[in-house]
Amino acid sequence: MDTISLDVNRLPRHVGIIMDGNGRWAQRHKLKIAMGHRAGTEALREIIRNSSDIGIQVLTLYAFSTENWSRSKAEVDALMMLLLEFFQSEIDELDQKQVRILILGDKDGLPPAQRDALLRAEARTAHNTGLKLNIAVNYGSRAEIVRAARLLAQDVAAGVLAPQDIDEAALESRLYTAGDPPVDLLIRTSGEMRQSNFLLWQCAYAEFVFPTVLWPDFDLAAYHACIAAYQGRSRRFGGRAEA
Ligand code: IPE
Ligand code: IPE
Ligand code: MG
Repeated sequence: MDTISLDVNRLPRHVGIIMDGNGRWAQRHKLKIAMGHRAGTEALREIIRNSSDIGIQVLTLYAFSTENWSRSKAEVDALMMLLLEFFQSEIDELDQKQVRILILGDKDGLPPAQRDALLRAEARTAHNTGLKLNIAVNYGSRAEIVRAARLLAQDVAAGVLAPQDIDEAALESRLYTAGDPPVDLLIRTSGEMRQSNFLLWQCAYAEFVFPTVLWPDFDLAAYHACIAAYQGRSRRFGGRAEA
């Protein structure tokens, strides 16, 4: 049972999660890697549901990086199948909970069935007013920033933007996460302590928490422990802590 008490007035507005450790979980249980990923989607359901219930504004999940294409075809195929299954089985409940889904990343680089399912999920939930759920698929943060730079350049070339008007807000408004508050809390499971090309811009002042639990074992108690750790941090943004 979850016994950690959270300060509901100081919840992170935006939580980012690097869901890592499915492979090691499968190994540990002497299962095929695909079974680790499948177990990971179970953890995912709970975390999304609870984020919506406790009133997190934005949850951004790293599901598949541009670098993950370098894994075996069997593993990539399994991940793509799980992605499809996830949307098929969850979309009704997510929509009913007023969750608004946005995919971060290049959908055109995905197989057509996956691309269509993601586009449909975005369109169906576009006007929902609850939790904003960003799912990073075929996503890389450097590519996202390059894309924003290109969009700025196009506007300059078209004469609708002057170079001197390019500021942080102008770039930010061309990221996939435009309009979202910056990441307050970044969680990476499995004990790895790196960002792996995830939300580099958006995490400029994020608090990082690295639980050692493998992603399929990440339950509500573990999630709330991360939020409690966040609530214990002193966020200074370059200033001085209050006395
Ligand atoms: C994270 O688990 C899921 C994805 C990258 C899609 P991993 O598959 O990276 O798990 P480990 O790091 O091998 O344990
Ligand atoms: C990051 O995990 C990507 C996702 C969780 C989708 P990886 O397991 O791919 O990252 P590295 O290779 O350990 O940095
Ligand atoms: Mg990994």
